[in-house]
Amino acid sequence: MADIGRGIFCLKAPLWSLFIFCLLVSSLVGAAGGPRGEAVASAHPLATEAGLMMLQAGGNAFDAAVAVSAALAVVEPYGSGLGGGGFWLLHRARDGHQVMIDGRERAPFAAHPDMYLDEKGEVVAGASIDGPLAAGIPGTPAALAHIAEHYGRLPLSVSLRPAIILAADGFPVDRVYRRMAGLRLSPLRDSEEAAAQFLLDGAVPPHRHRPRQPALAETLHRIARNGARGFYAGEIAERLVTAVRAGGGIWSSRDLRDYRVLERAPVATRFGEYRLVSANLPSSGGILLVQMLNMLMARPLDGLDEAGRVHLLVEIMRRAYADRARYLGDADHVSVPVARLLNRGYAQRLARQIDPGRATPSPVLSAPPAEGRDTTHFSVLDAAGNRVAATLSVNYPFGSGFVAAGTGVLLNDEMDDFSAKPGSANAYGLIGNHANAIAPGKRMLSSMSPTFLESPDRVAILGTPGGSRIISMVLLGLLDAIDGRPVADWVARGRFHHQYMPDRVEVEPAALGDEVLGALRQKGHRIRQLDEPYGNMQAISWDRVSGEVTAASDPRGIGRSVVVPVSR
Ligand code: DON
Repeated sequence: MADIGRGIFCLKAPLWSLFIFCLLVSSLVGAAGGPRGEAVASAHPLATEAGLMMLQAGGNAFDAAVAVSAALAVVEPYGSGLGGGGFWLLHRARDGHQVMIDGRERAPFAAHPDMYLDEKGEVVAGASIDGPLAAGIPGTPAALAHIAEHYGRLPLSVSLRPAIILAADGFPVDRVYRRMAGLRLSPLRDSEEAAAQFLLDGAVPPHRHRPRQPALAETLHRIARNGARGFYAGEIAERLVTAVRAGGGIWSSRDLRDYRVLERAPVATRFGEYRLVSANLPSSGGILLVQMLNMLMARPLDGLDEAGRVHLLVEIMRRAYADRARYLGDADHVSVPVARLLNRGYAQRLARQIDPGRATPSPVLSAPPAEGRDTTHFSVLDAAGNRVAATLSVNYPFGSGFVAAGTGVLLNDEMDDFSAKPGSANAYGLIGNHANAIAPGKRMLSSMSPTFLESPDRVAILGTPGGSRIISMVLLGLLDAIDGRPVADWVARGRFHHQYMPDRVEVEPAALGDEVLGALRQKGHRIRQLDEPYGNMQAISWDRVSGEVTAASDPRGIGRSVVVPVSR
């Protein structure tokens, strides 16, 4: 399209509209035209294939996103699924429209702040993690129907087809599936339906065994035929509620009937020549990324040695995560001082307190008042420049481990992302307070951070699973992109993380050398060397000048990224 179409329009238009239009078009398609490739990067090769099939069938990036999400729900049941939720960040090339599709789970109407506490007011271990009481009302089916209807070109009967086939015919079990099922054997065994669907004779199935999920295929089929109503009303909804209540959960038909997917404005900021676009509340990701970039503007990394760089980044992470614990929650239910948190002056004040020679002990920062690799990310870019960054979850590996009888739907345990009690840590060690307390119909605070980084020269699409570490991983990936490193480096780089509490720097194996670790200890940092790597980043980079598209899947996982060249 680009050059010829642009020329003709520009000649006919009056001067002022010509100027605005040309500016708009060149910002959308780049000086050399649109992307010279279409790309999908996801955490599973079969999901990537499902996305590519949609692009080949005349679908756009949004159809591909629906197909990838649905396929992941089948082949990566430990990461996301119809029983879970997520955030889909969309960019529509035609008009530059950017939106976050909020398909986050929400608390059932019968939920209350003390539901995971015992009579002494202590958190009951595991209550918000295993079984149907841990499950929020799913958002993924509503989000897929919404994206297909409002942004896609293909009907759900086409975009859900690869997932339906994978559910009916099965898919080969891989090493990640086996490891995750091993971690969650106990809750999976406790649910008869989950054991039948995901295990073999009550044990982790062998490599290349093909789990078939006929009930899930049927549920997908109903969504393909009836849209969101195929899940939130009628027989599937009845079965979900019956099974959840029989298993000790508190869902009602009204919870499902009233679930709404929401369109929200993403969080955006400028950082030098770059524009960051990321997830808004109920994700904490975008707000923390803006805060951290704002602090970096006040305290740049330039000229620092590696230990100095890591120290500064850790101190910045510490301060942003402290604000997460103190202020953030679902802004539809509690008041959150978003404008203040996004304010540059506020970030400057925080950054000024950073001592280059010394770690700030976390308790010194305003404490909250007294009161991996599961989850999944994928990125898509089509030939028109439409793009999607999506991070989806059922929370813990295999969610709550509970499959609702007659639906094939594995339920999330996202209720654990609420703060069960002020100051008590959740599964990721995150603490919170009243802002993220449980309330009926409220969305639990998330760290999922699907992100775009845009400049006149380049577009980056990225994100990752990893619980509380998602936001620090995305920050490190963004800094690599800003440094001009290739996309393969963003996903492969060694990672480190600080989340305010616990007060320590978590470091991936071999991410930092002994010298740097020694220097950090000298500055007063407590270091926790991790035994296992973390994260599973899926990223795409589009060079707007040359049109070149590159993509990469995190080498820590089994994902696959593909770029298909387009001829113009
Ligand atoms: O929404 C959140 O922040 C979490 N439920 C994400 C969980 C996750 O990334 C697990 N991956 N290791």
